[in-house]
Amino acid sequence: MTEVDQPIQSKEYKYEVLPDDYTQYDLSYKLIVIGDSGVGKSCLTNKATKNIFSESYNATVGFEFFTFNIKINDKILKLQIWDTCGQELYRSLITNFYRNSSLAIMVYSINNKETFENIDIWLKELRLHSSPDVKVFLIGNKVDLESERVINRADGEKYSNDNKLNLFCETSAKTGFNAQKIFIEASKLLYEDYLKYKDNDDKRNDNYNLEWNNKNSQDKNNKKRKKCC
Ligand code: GTP
Ligand code: MG
Repeated sequence: MTEVDQPIQSKEYKYEVLPDDYTQYDLSYKLIVIGDSGVGKSCLTNKATKNIFSESYNATVGFEFFTFNIKINDKILKLQIWDTCGQELYRSLITNFYRNSSLAIMVYSINNKETFENIDIWLKELRLHSSPDVKVFLIGNKVDLESERVINRADGEKYSNDNKLNLFCETSAKTGFNAQKIFIEASKLLYEDYLKYKDNDDKRNDNYNLEWNNKNSQDKNNKKRKKCC
């Protein structure tokens, strides 16, 4: 499957991925990566931000912090990515990370049925503790292990559509397939949101200016009238 086959749809913006230690930014967002232990959350984030992949499994303890910097049109976006641990033991700790997250990336592994079934639990937890307008991506990782696949692409897509998630995508942290793309798509979506709110703010400012001008001209008229009086 080529990248072109991926059903990622969003407006095309001019963008450039910047080094992860780039310090300047105009807009900053908090992202959280969640899902069962071992699905590849850390590998995926490492691949996307540092182009590193490790075959050995080092379970995350608590969380790990990453950054992804990107310039879209004339704005530099900094994604602050909180890669969380999937172990049950730390679940209550993770709920603190849901708050103030603009976007959540839920990961399962295409060769492990249980990790896909547990997505329901992750989504419920997320909805319970995050802001109502949090954006949610569903990621089916480890597509390089096609011969071990137990979750069809269509199942992931259906779950994503049924639950009105913002994006469904299959990835491989090992080959890098779509790894960076999910963070680029996250950035585009957040940038789109920024433009929408900016437009509303501009309109609000325009209305405010209009009201202000009307009020001013009324005041002037009143003053003129007063003068006249
Ligand atoms: P926790 O930190 O315990 O929550 O796990 P995690 O979701 O962060 O998993 P991690 O990224 O540590 O990966 C777990 C194991 O899966 C490691 O041995 C990785 O090498 C392997 N792995 C991760 N992504 C892929 C992938 O896309 N393909 C293959 N073949 N293996 C992968
Ligand atoms: Mg991890």
